[in-house]
Amino acid sequence: MASPSRRNEQRATAQFGHVPEPAIVDMAPNMGEVLVALSRALDITEGQPPGHGMRAALIGYRLGEALGLSGTALSNLFYTVLLKDLGCSSNAARICELYLADDLTFKHDFKLVSDSLPAALRFVLDHTGLQAGLAARFRAIITIVRNGGEIVDELIETRCQRGATIAARMGFPEEVATGIHDLDEHWDGSGRPSGLVGEAIALNARVALLAQVVDVFRTSRDGEIALREARARRGTWFDPKLVDCLCAIAGPAFWQEIGADDIARVLSDLPPIRDAGYVRDVKIDDVITGFAEVVDAKSPYTAGHSARVALYADMIAAEMGLSQGSRTILGRGALLHDIGKLGVSNQVLDKPGRLDEAEWQAIRRHPVDGCNVLGSVDAFAYLARIAEAHHERLDGKGYPHGLRAPELDLATRITSVADVFDALTADRPYRDAMPLEKAMSILEGDTGTAFDPDCVDALRRVARNL
Ligand SMILES: [Fe+2]
Ligand SMILES: [Fe+2]
Repeated sequence: MASPSRRNEQRATAQFGHVPEPAIVDMAPNMGEVLVALSRALDITEGQPPGHGMRAALIGYRLGEALGLSGTALSNLFYTVLLKDLGCSSNAARICELYLADDLTFKHDFKLVSDSLPAALRFVLDHTGLQAGLAARFRAIITIVRNGGEIVDELIETRCQRGATIAARMGFPEEVATGIHDLDEHWDGSGRPSGLVGEAIALNARVALLAQVVDVFRTSRDGEIALREARARRGTWFDPKLVDCLCAIAGPAFWQEIGADDIARVLSDLPPIRDAGYVRDVKIDDVITGFAEVVDAKSPYTAGHSARVALYADMIAAEMGLSQGSRTILGRGALLHDIGKLGVSNQVLDKPGRLDEAEWQAIRRHPVDGCNVLGSVDAFAYLARIAEAHHERLDGKGYPHGLRAPELDLATRITSVADVFDALTADRPYRDAMPLEKAMSILEGDTGTAFDPDCVDALRRVARNL
């Protein structure tokens, strides 16, 4: 008779039957395509229309070419613009707290504000505390008007620092990290966080800011208005030489390429994507860990959540005797299971009270958004499945699709158990962390209806070591 661990291994193999073979999964995916796919997660965090990061990267790339850049320098520029928003999730909770506002709408609309003090004040009045009571709204506006400079300093400093750190940890060269760090500096010294002037600002950052503004205005209005905005800020926000260069290349073919329906397809032909050599120092697991950090930075209540879910999932998987290859896939899926939460406002994620129906709808959408982000790259098909199904239950009462036991593979079942275990044992906006025993008894109470009994048993055994 097979030993318990052998039986577990056989069961695991059977359940994992439709997981791609480790040899196929471990085949290094094209890192450029992975990064392009993950840039979609940054778009949803910024409340931007799909493809913003990709279009901005293409604008930056064409500007770089026109400036005479090539090879590594041009690739550095491309990835700086593509990943310029890596730090974007880190100030979302603070924006909600300070402005009593939906961070996604706030961030989207803020990028459309013209460069003048009256416009900025009008923006604050139009966006602060719209759903709050009059007194709370008044208090928030007074705080912002009094301390506006320091508040914006803080929001931008957090974002720049965080983005640069994550890019460096992913293995990108210093030129990319510095470009991301300097994104909000302005040519005339009026930017943040350091008030750098002129060419003291990294070239990649100067291009990234121009590309960002051009895409935002082109997408919400049109190319002519985008150019008008670029010219209006020539010498204040933007390097005059870059604005002139943009005006020289921005003919009909340029706008047609930027507005292509399948922008990912356009990017896939560019050397920074095709040439795998450039990103050879960027490792897939570092990129996944970096994006998990972006997800976890979104809310103070989810700090470290993705990393812990991956740890618990791996402990369960090891206890159940899964192969190293399956554990690798599971670990990556667990790290990115909540990537769709980047598209949920912190007004919902951090709400201390009960959620209303619309807020629940927003929460229920995150597995689908996560699947859309991850599913856009072939090598991540399995990770997309975990992201899509981690809130499903064996009895079909989960969301978003109400899948039933036969449709839920072992990796998803393990992730679900690890996810809820971490949710119960961490602080939440509406309650404190639970002791381990209480969390286990809640999980065991839902065993067989929500959770796979073998996964919960395995967690029970390994939880002794926590
Ligand atoms: Fe989730
Ligand atoms: Fe989660």
